[in-house]
Amino acid sequence: MDQFISPATLPSYLEQAAEVRARFARLKAREVILDVQHLSKYFGAGPRRMTALEDINFRTHRREFLCVVGPSGCGKTTLVRILAGLEEKDSGHVLLQGKAVTEPSSDRGMVFQGYTLFPWLTVKKNVMFGLEVNGHGRHEAGQQALQWLQLIGLEKFADAYPHQLSGGMKQRVAIVRALANQPRILLMDEPFGALDAQTRCRMQAHLLEIWRKIDITIVFITHDLDEAIFLADSGDDDEAESYAMVARLTDVADNVE
Ligand SMILES: Nc1ncnc2c1ncn2[C@@H]1O[C@H](COP(=O)(O)OP(=O)(O)OP(=O)(O)O)[C@@H](O)[C@H]1O
Ligand SMILES: [Mg+2]
Repeated sequence: MDQFISPATLPSYLEQAAEVRARFARLKAREVILDVQHLSKYFGAGPRRMTALEDINFRTHRREFLCVVGPSGCGKTTLVRILAGLEEKDSGHVLLQGKAVTEPSSDRGMVFQGYTLFPWLTVKKNVMFGLEVNGHGRHEAGQQALQWLQLIGLEKFADAYPHQLSGGMKQRVAIVRALANQPRILLMDEPFGALDAQTRCRMQAHLLEIWRKIDITIVFITHDLDEAIFLADSGDDDEAESYAMVARLTDVADNVE
């Protein structure tokens, strides 16, 4: 029986190494960007009432990359829609830099799974759109849009239309379009879900590259554990830290008819 390792002799998975504890301490000493307290959301009423989110609590800090992972139907999109101000919560608090989130605002950028570029606008004009809405002049918006496109290596496609781009290129444009408005936080709901495996890997690397270069906090929703671990274990310097919140948002079994 000596060849078997007894579970009693293994360190608990809840025990963190000193290095990991130090990393979390550094992260938690930073400014809190998003504070979610006792958040609950139900759909329907009476006996048909269904729990989408029950007492969710978490915080994200400045320049943090937080991944939220969970299986289909566990409430990920509901969570991100509430964070974006697109869905009302039933109870709890959602605070962005201490201010209650009640409606959509340019301090939160969003990237969804589906391609959400305006098909009738060129790539450059898609990126300029939010800048112009937020009061930047056409010339300045154009200059900024080109800089963003350079960051993702798509400046040559500035005058192309979305239908002339591949799926990965479209999502890169969607990311910088959201970032161009300089939001405090970028909310991403399975943004690479529709891409093939290789493109997805490239996009993950691109996203990390962008995140390391600018002052942005990211909440990234995925059902893919590998993706979450890869992205959320990438904080390798003092500036940009990340960690994974592997969340079981609600008991999925409750939601199965
Ligand atoms: N508008 C709605 N009305 C009623 N029920 C809803 C509504 N939106 C979501 N739900 C229910 O809430 C639960 C959580 O849905 P949600 O879309 O947040 O899951 P998810 O984790 O994003 O799933 P997926 O990985 O498939 O995208 C599901 O059971 C869903 O049916
Ligand atoms: Mg979803």
